[in-house]
Amino acid sequence: MKITKLNEVQISNKNKEKEQFAIDVLTGFTSSPKSLSSKYFYDDYGSQLFQAITQQEDYYLTNIELNILQNSKDALPELVQGEEIDIIELGAGDGHKTKILLQGFLDSGFRVNFYPIDISYEAMNLLNKNIQDSENLFIHGVVGEYIDGLRYVRSLSQNQQIVLFLGSNLGNFDMVSSQVFLRKVWKSMNAADYLFTGFDLKKDVSVLTKAYNDKQGYTRKFNLNLLTRMNNELGANFQLEDFQHFGVYNPRLGAMESYLLSLKEQTVYIKELERSFNFDAYEPIHLEYSFKFSHKDIAFLCEQTGYKIKHNFTDEKNYFVNSLWEVVKN
Ligand SMILES: C[S@@+](CC[C@H](N)C(=O)[O-])C[C@H]1O[C@@H](n2cnc3c(N)ncnc32)[C@H](O)[C@@H]1O
Repeated sequence: MKITKLNEVQISNKNKEKEQFAIDVLTGFTSSPKSLSSKYFYDDYGSQLFQAITQQEDYYLTNIELNILQNSKDALPELVQGEEIDIIELGAGDGHKTKILLQGFLDSGFRVNFYPIDISYEAMNLLNKNIQDSENLFIHGVVGEYIDGLRYVRSLSQNQQIVLFLGSNLGNFDMVSSQVFLRKVWKSMNAADYLFTGFDLKKDVSVLTKAYNDKQGYTRKFNLNLLTRMNNELGANFQLEDFQHFGVYNPRLGAMESYLLSLKEQTVYIKELERSFNFDAYEPIHLEYSFKFSHKDIAFLCEQTGYKIKHNFTDEKNYFVNSLWEVVKN
């Protein structure tokens, strides 16, 4: 464990991360269809590109959630109650949404310990620019994986907790993995702690498709950056112009799916793995699911994983929900 700056720890290890990246690429590229885990999107440049995506008009998710958070920031502290709270955020990104919630707790007189957890060093840098310690606000950044970070924070936390999982991060898991994940989070908390999660709702397919294929092409760059990351970190020789970004809604799964398609038959060598991989013309690499939810799906997930819904905050169009769940333990 390394202290990277005052009040910030890095619980991940760069060499181990690279080794795991190589193993995951090998597993993904020997699967059919080929796939890569979406957690590898977020190297330094990937985190900057994601920040640019959130500013695109087509990507409705961020603005809608920002409005919901503005409208719920005073109600949340009332629902939670208390004097001191540990706010733990999974995949905090640049923290610009969280800033609103933190202000709500501070305005209500809470003393707040904020533990943002993110796998990306650059996301933590961006967050540090957006949010600083102030009277009654104490920030302890953790660079690492969700569950490792939670385990680390649990060893420090003495107060009531609210775990934040904003945006549509949970949507990257399929239904079974979501349940496993939510149960792991449940295990790290005590009765009457809270989980506050973002859920992107099912909606008109044209709205969804536009959001994941923005006009300015940031999503395309974001996806292609995974190839650049493999070139830089694993010594691969991907030619970016030989791959095409493709984002599509799958109504059977209820999920947006992101792919890179190989534009021709080609072979790519990955030095770190000491082997080549063949791609057929138009063969896909699956990169990401972004599951969309109904209110029924949310209630089901909540009930199955040991929580009860305290309140659902939504918007006028019914595009997005931030759902506050209370931990139930017998
Ligand atoms: C889609 S962004 C969302 C950021 C922010 N929560 C928001 O709503 O704008 C996902 C964030 O989660 C982080 N992340 C992805 N997978 C992770 C993992 N397995 N463990 C920790 N952080 C992760 C990424 O680095 C990125 O900052």
